[in-house]
This record gives sequence, C-alpha cells and structure tokens, in this order.
Amino acid sequence: MQQRGNFSSKLGVILATAGSAVGLGNIWRFPYEAGSSGGGSFLLLYLLFVLLLGVPVILAEFVVGRSSQRNASAAFQVLAPNTPWHWVGKMGVLTGLLINGFYAVVTGWTFAYLFKSLTGGLMESGVDYQTLFDKMTSDTWAPIGWMLVVMLVAHTIIRKGVSGGIERASKILMPLLLVVMLVLSVHSCMLAGAPEGLKFLFYPDFSKITPTVAFRALGQAFFSLSLGMGCLITYSSYFKQDVDLQRSALQIALLDTLVAIIAGIIIFPAVFTFGVEPEAGPGLVFKVLPNVFAQMGYPFVWSSLFYLLLSIAALTSLISLHEVVTAYVSETWHVSRRWASWSVVGVVSVLGVFSSLSFGLLKDVQLFGRTFFDWLDFITSSVFLPLGGMLISIFVAWKLDRSRLENELAGKGRYAKAVLPFLIFILRYIAPVAIFVIFITSIIGA
Ligand code: PHE
Repeated sequence: MQQRGNFSSKLGVILATAGSAVGLGNIWRFPYEAGSSGGGSFLLLYLLFVLLLGVPVILAEFVVGRSSQRNASAAFQVLAPNTPWHWVGKMGVLTGLLINGFYAVVTGWTFAYLFKSLTGGLMESGVDYQTLFDKMTSDTWAPIGWMLVVMLVAHTIIRKGVSGGIERASKILMPLLLVVMLVLSVHSCMLAGAPEGLKFLFYPDFSKITPTVAFRALGQAFFSLSLGMGCLITYSSYFKQDVDLQRSALQIALLDTLVAIIAGIIIFPAVFTFGVEPEAGPGLVFKVLPNVFAQMGYPFVWSSLFYLLLSIAALTSLISLHEVVTAYVSETWHVSRRWASWSVVGVVSVLGVFSSLSFGLLKDVQLFGRTFFDWLDFITSSVFLPLGGMLISIFVAWKLDRSRLENELAGKGRYAKAVLPFLIFILRYIAPVAIFVIFITSIIGA
C-alpha cells in the first residue's frame, strides 16, 4: 500500500475539517433554505439537529476513519470484513461524486462573480442584479468554462496531497474568511431593514414547523457539516492518535454553525432592505448582496472581498468532496493520486455540464418538476446524506467493538468521560430513530 498522508498539526486538523464543513452550504445554501422555510423556525430545527444528531454522527465518522486509517469504503472492510457494510462507504463515494457535480457549478458562479467584480463590471451603476444572475447562469458556455477552471484548481491542490495541499491551503484561507464575514455582518446590521431581517432569522414562528421543514433542516445540517458520505471518515483517517475527537467534533460543529448564522446576519437584513423575496431560491445570495456592496463605501473592494471569500470557502469544501473520491479510487485500484484525481475531474465535469445547462438549454428538461441540478441537490442532501448518517451511526454503535469505540471516543478530562455513555446512547437509539422518523413523516406529508 502506498504511504498515506497525515495532517501535521492539531490546528491543521481543525482547519482542514472545518474548511470542508464551511462552504457554499453555509453561505449560499443555508440562507436560501432558511428563506424559503420560514426563517427562525428553520434555524431552530437546524440548530437542534446539529447539536443532537450532527455532533454524534461526526464522532461516528471520526471513529470509523481514524481507527481504520482507510478511505470511506475500505474503512468498513477493515472494521467489519466480509460483511456488506462497505456498501455504505461506496454509497458515500457515489454521493461525493454527485454533490461534486452541482457544487462545482455553483463554485464556478462565485469565480465568475469574483472575476466580474475585479474587472469592474459588477459594481457599475445601473446593473439589475436579478437579471444579471439569470443571464449569467442561463448562458451555455461561460458557466461551463468557469466550472472547468474550478475543477482544475481543485485538482492542483488535491494532487499535492494531504498536508502539502489541503492543510496548507486551509490554514491561510479559513481565518481570512471569518474576518471578512464579521466585517460584512456588522455593516449589514446597520442597514434599514436590519430589525426586520434579524427578526425573520431569529424569531421562530412555531406554526411554520412542518415535517417538510424538519426534513429540509435535517438535510441542511448534514450537508453543511459534510456528514453522511464518508468525507469525515476520509479526513479523520489522516488524524493522528493524539487528536481529541470529542473536542474536535464540537469545535467544528460550532464553527460551522457560527458561519451559517453570520451568513444569515449578512444576508437577511439586506433581503428586507432591498425588497427581495426571502424565497428567491438558489439565486438569493447572488441577487441580494451586490445591492449591499453598491451602497457601501468602496463597493469594488467589498464585492471583490466577498466573492473571494465565497470562492475560498467553496473551494475548500469542493476539495474535500474531491478527496473522498480520489482517496477511494487511488487506494482501490492502486493508481497514483494524480491519476485518481484526473479521473474524478473527468466524471465530475460531465455531471457539471448537465447541471450547468439546467439553468439554460436544459431548463425545461424536468422530471417531477425538478431539473438535473435540482435532482442532484435533492437526492444527495435530503436522501443520501441522512441515510448515510443513519447507517454510519448504526454501524458504529451496534457493530463496532465497544472497547474500540470507547478508546477512540475517550476525550481528555472529566467532562469527556461523563459524556461518553450519553453519546453512545444517542448513536444507538436517538440518531437512527430520529432520522428514520423524519424521513417517513416527510414522505407521508409530501
Ligand atoms: N459542507 C460543505 C458545505 O457546507 C459541503 C459538503 C458536503 C462538503 C458534503 C463535503 C461533503 O458547503
């Protein structure tokens, strides 16, 4: 077997894993999902799911990854040889490929906006940002071109391996992202629509809580935490033995949630100030924010910084999606990381072309009211990720050797010890049952 990489420091572990978690899911997907599912009530369910289900399932993935030191599929083969469990890992690898297929397109949009901003076209006066977004995404070639650029950048970083590429990039990019977001959120709080926007985001209207909202909030929680598809199995297989899993899981979940909330604080005041519908869907961030920048001093600087930030966040997540498949291909078929990564670029680019055309040429090619892009998004976030998370927690809590589980999960300090039985209880009973119930009720309610 070829030598596997490792994350070289504890900070690197947190930053790289948080780099995977923090991405378009927080800044692009969270606001539009919250916007179309009632704001505060969605946020409440989302927070509940992150804490109650997200953190334990992160730990379950960490246990599988670190104790096996293998990719998402081989991990199950090592821990439970001659059982069908490796299919859970393979489903994860497939999910990674599918998410990649639309994620690369949206990352391409952010690159395009960054480029437009840097070259002065975005902040020209009189631009109608709704039209601009629709025109840009419905074009045939440009978005495909940007998607390919994105894939090449991801490939270049992936090729350099775990600590050289992923870790180094995350160490610089993650803190930068937080700083820029904080500045923007302070500015948004001074907009005229801030009270209304903040009320929409934070005030839960309990009458808006339905099985469908719960289903979407669960999908969003898993998507945002990079959960349920073996991404965290793959990353934690590069963790060293001295990494405290409990503490890391908590830190990553908190950071990820914080970024989503800050994104909400940036976006909803603007939504209400500029009279955009919170239900605007996947175009929300792209249609609303340029209006904000245009009102600020130095709009060019703010818009460029923001799209730089969004591109960075998207890229670190895209890299993690890419890494899951690359590690699997390279270790299963014994090919170099370079060739494994190229093959991922090839398959994802094909999926990406169809996703991208879903906004133009293939807009009307729909199945049950969904385009190709919508299907990739829906089937992965709402179905495969929760399903994967459920199976992984069942595996860890019921199948894995109890002493191995306790060893891996044992954190430092008294508190960590006290929490251990509670965690195992959640993984055994609460997580599988809750996910199952949410699934079933939303299917019946649909
Ligand atoms: N968590 C990432 C985001 O919020 C997306 C992602 C999902 C990455 C699944 C890896 C695995 O953007």
